[in-house]
Amino acid sequence: MSEQGTAAPAVPGTVAATVSSDGQAAVLRAVHLTKAFGGLVAVKEVDFEVKAGSITSLIGPNGAGKTTLFNVVAGLSEPTDGHIEFLGRRVVARPERAWLEPILWILPAALVWLLAYLVGTANPPVNVIEILVLLGLGLLIATLITAVIRPGWYNRLLVRLGIFKSARPNDMVQAGIGRTFQNIRLFANMTAIENVLVGMHGQLKSSPLDAVLRTPKQKREELDSVAEARRLLRYVGLRREDELARNLPYGDQRRLEIARALATRPKLLLLDEPTAGMNPAETDQMMKLFSRIRRELSLPILLIEHDMRVVMGISDTITVLDHGEKISEGTPAEVRADARVIEAYLGKGAI
Ligand SMILES: Nc1ncnc2c1ncn2[C@@H]1O[C@H](COP(=O)(O)OP(=O)(O)O)[C@@H](O)[C@H]1O
Ligand SMILES: [Mg+2]
Repeated sequence: MSEQGTAAPAVPGTVAATVSSDGQAAVLRAVHLTKAFGGLVAVKEVDFEVKAGSITSLIGPNGAGKTTLFNVVAGLSEPTDGHIEFLGRRVVARPERAWLEPILWILPAALVWLLAYLVGTANPPVNVIEILVLLGLGLLIATLITAVIRPGWYNRLLVRLGIFKSARPNDMVQAGIGRTFQNIRLFANMTAIENVLVGMHGQLKSSPLDAVLRTPKQKREELDSVAEARRLLRYVGLRREDELARNLPYGDQRRLEIARALATRPKLLLLDEPTAGMNPAETDQMMKLFSRIRRELSLPILLIEHDMRVVMGISDTITVLDHGEKISEGTPAEVRADARVIEAYLGKGAI
């Protein structure tokens, strides 16, 4: 992988954030987060945060709850208790008063139909009733379409009414969370560049009508997307852009997942064991890539990683989980010296 001469892709730089307990900006914050699967509590009352521009690592033995925590952060599963704040907004938590929303969809039409009924009892000309019934139907269709499109004012109305819906994975991608998976999940029968273009999809401005009419705006955006996808592939050190994803060597598939995550223009990157199965030389290249991403793109990273050389080498902060609970947190030096971490995870011979 070439380390020089590759321009940084246009990922947004410093991001808005809330101020954390120690005065530094926090991009992501988990507050008293709990996730239970039936009787098994996979994550238990965990508090932690990712500061702007930092690399934060999650470590712990297999089954400690790291991937479960990631999935909650990414909107893939709802927490049992506690919540996630991203860029100062509570985005993931148990839904509140969600039952009110369907009532909201029906209410305008129901009121108009009630009016039709009342008018009907007063012997009006028949077409007045017909008009009111059709108006009610129109309102019902309009409300349902609004609920699907979810414009800003609709979301604000839900907040005002105390209705809270936990963010879904697509909401979190739109909000600025890009991720890779512990088990690689690429589109196997698409080429490398097509995989990256899929990641860009949420950023495109052209409407379906632009695409059908092939407007100049749509053509320009398509060319720009392909150029940006190429730049991202070079940035992560992948040269075989027209190769099918399934034919790429394992290390390149991992790199391609990172390029696809960067294509969503994230404000936080979640990486679940990105160096798993790599040899030491490939691992070194990945470490350099993570440092570059943080330095050049000002992109904070939340990393799950087993390779202690990687974790200790590049993390600003390390959070240690064991049986779903946070047992330690601090700089690499602090965590390495923590007796509980040595006992639960690192082992006596590891330091
Ligand atoms: N969907 C699920 N249903 C039931 N149990 C699960 C599920 N996902 C994870 N678990 C359990 O939760 C615990 C934590 O798993 P996981 O988050 O994958 O740990 P880690 O990533 O730290 O190895 C494990 O005991 C695992 O078996
Ligand atoms: Mg895991």
